[in-house]
Formats: sequence, structure tokens, C-alpha cells
Amino acid sequence: MSSRCIGFGDTLGFALRKGRSMQIKALCGALGSEIQGVNLATVDGNQMGVIRDTFHQSHVLVFPEQDLEPSAQVAFTEHFGPAEPHPLKTRATVDGFDTVLILENKPGQPGAPNDYWHSDISHSEVPPAASCLHALTIPDGHGDTMFCNMVAAYDGLSDGMKALITPLRALHSGMATYERSLQSNDARKIDPSEIKPPHAHPIVRTHPESGKKSLFVNPHFTAGIEGMTDEESKTILDVLYAAAIQPENIYRHRWQPGDVLIWDNRSVMHYAVRDYTEDMPRKMHRTTAGGEVPA
Ligand code: OGA
Ligand code: MN
Repeated sequence: MSSRCIGFGDTLGFALRKGRSMQIKALCGALGSEIQGVNLATVDGNQMGVIRDTFHQSHVLVFPEQDLEPSAQVAFTEHFGPAEPHPLKTRATVDGFDTVLILENKPGQPGAPNDYWHSDISHSEVPPAASCLHALTIPDGHGDTMFCNMVAAYDGLSDGMKALITPLRALHSGMATYERSLQSNDARKIDPSEIKPPHAHPIVRTHPESGKKSLFVNPHFTAGIEGMTDEESKTILDVLYAAAIQPENIYRHRWQPGDVLIWDNRSVMHYAVRDYTEDMPRKMHRTTAGGEVPA
């Protein structure tokens, strides 16, 4: 497969000029920007304009050294869409905040694994626009999260492959979350009868704000392609996944306590690296901003 240099960082100069006190730097060639010099608890409208522009360029934003109360994390998340509880409610939530999920790994309570490429809740009829993690406790140098750029993955396909997949829809199933709940000590065990039938979304979606096209399939929730055999689906999906997760298309975030990271769930997949054990505490607060029907 040919490699690509995406170079989106060049386009960040505009945001940088408008951002005044904020410092914005590209995290790698593929995606991701770090923004310093803003307190997300008191972010204003001008700063949010720059943050939103950078989000559409970079897909993943990292804000180091934040200290957000759950209410402030919800308020920040709501700049991207209404904060939503998890539809399957498998995670604990902060008291009084059903939209703030607690992702926790500690002795006697291993955290639920997320060590597979996915886009959050893609099996929903209306999957989230964005997900936000606030790192509270980090096992030093462990528990990184990886992100891949699904706009670049689409752009790098041949015209022939783009034409083949553009009319197709993929089926996304929540059964993967049920299966994971069998292996982990979730706050609530779900019953398979709660899982809705697979939901079809276009394989190529257009971002409602940036207008960019991206691949919208993931190996965790995508069960197949509508109207195709399992074998046919697998052959096509494997090509798309290989394009998405080539090393040149990945940013790997090494967490520091205090980091707030928000990603565009429409244009990236993510993967939580599970290189820690239950005796290495890790704790995050997660919020999710509602999106729109993929089109
Ligand atoms: C999730 C998830 C990533 C992480 O909660 O869906 O993917 O690094 N978390 O914990
Ligand atoms: Mn996730």
C-alpha cells in the first residue's frame, strides 16, 4: 500500500492567528492537535470558534493540564452536541450526572477493555458526534489510546474502490457490547434481548460541518455489508480497515493526568491499548455529544 503524507498541520496557521493566547500544535502528520493556553472550565465564544475550526481540521484535540468538574466537562461537551447517557448503561456514572461515565481500572475491579478499533456506539440510529475523556489517574506510560483518520483513509482509496463503496451501507450491531459485558465486570449486565437489530449506515459519510467524506465502518460494531455475503463483506471491509489503520494514519496519545481529549466520532476510529493490569489504576471521566443520522 502506498504511504501518504497528510500534512493537515499546514492548515492550522489560520486557527493559530485567530486563537491569540491559545497555542495550537499538530501532534503528528496524521491527525490530532494539542491546544494550550485555555481553561476549558471558562472557555469563551471566540476560543470555542477556534477550537471548533481546529477540531474539524484535526479530528482529535488534546487540552493538557485541565481540572474539570463533571458539570464543566458536560458544559464543554455540549459545545459539540447534547450530552447523552450511554444507551446500554453498562458503565458506572458520576453521582447526579448520568452523562458522565466512569472508566475505572483498579485492584479487584479491572476496567472494561476497549482494545479494538471502533467508533463509539456506531450501532445507534444516531451515533454520537464526539466523545470526550478527562484523564484523572493514569498508570505512568501505560494505557495509551490510538486514533486513526477516517477522512484520510477514504481519500487514499482508489477511484474504483470509492465508486464501489459509495452506494453501500454497512450493518452495525450492539452485540459486541453484550459480548464484552460477559467478560468484564460492568456496572450492569445487559440482556441480549436489549440489543436492537443491526442498524445500517452508509459506508461513506459526509461530515455535516466540514463537508469532508470519511469511512464509517469499524471492526468492532460493523457486522457486514447490506446485500452481501459474509465473505464478500469481509473482503471489502478488510481492505478499508487496512487503509485506516496503517501506521502513517495513526496518532497514539500518551496520557497525563489532567488531559482532556475530544475526538470526532464521525471521522476517527479509536483503540485503547490494554498494556496494564488491574493493579495499575487508571481512571477517566467520559462524556458523549449527540450527533446526527449519518448521511
Ligand atoms: C471508550 C473508550 C478509551 C480509553 O470508553 O469507549 O474507547 O482510552 N475508551 O479508555
Ligand atoms: Mn470507545
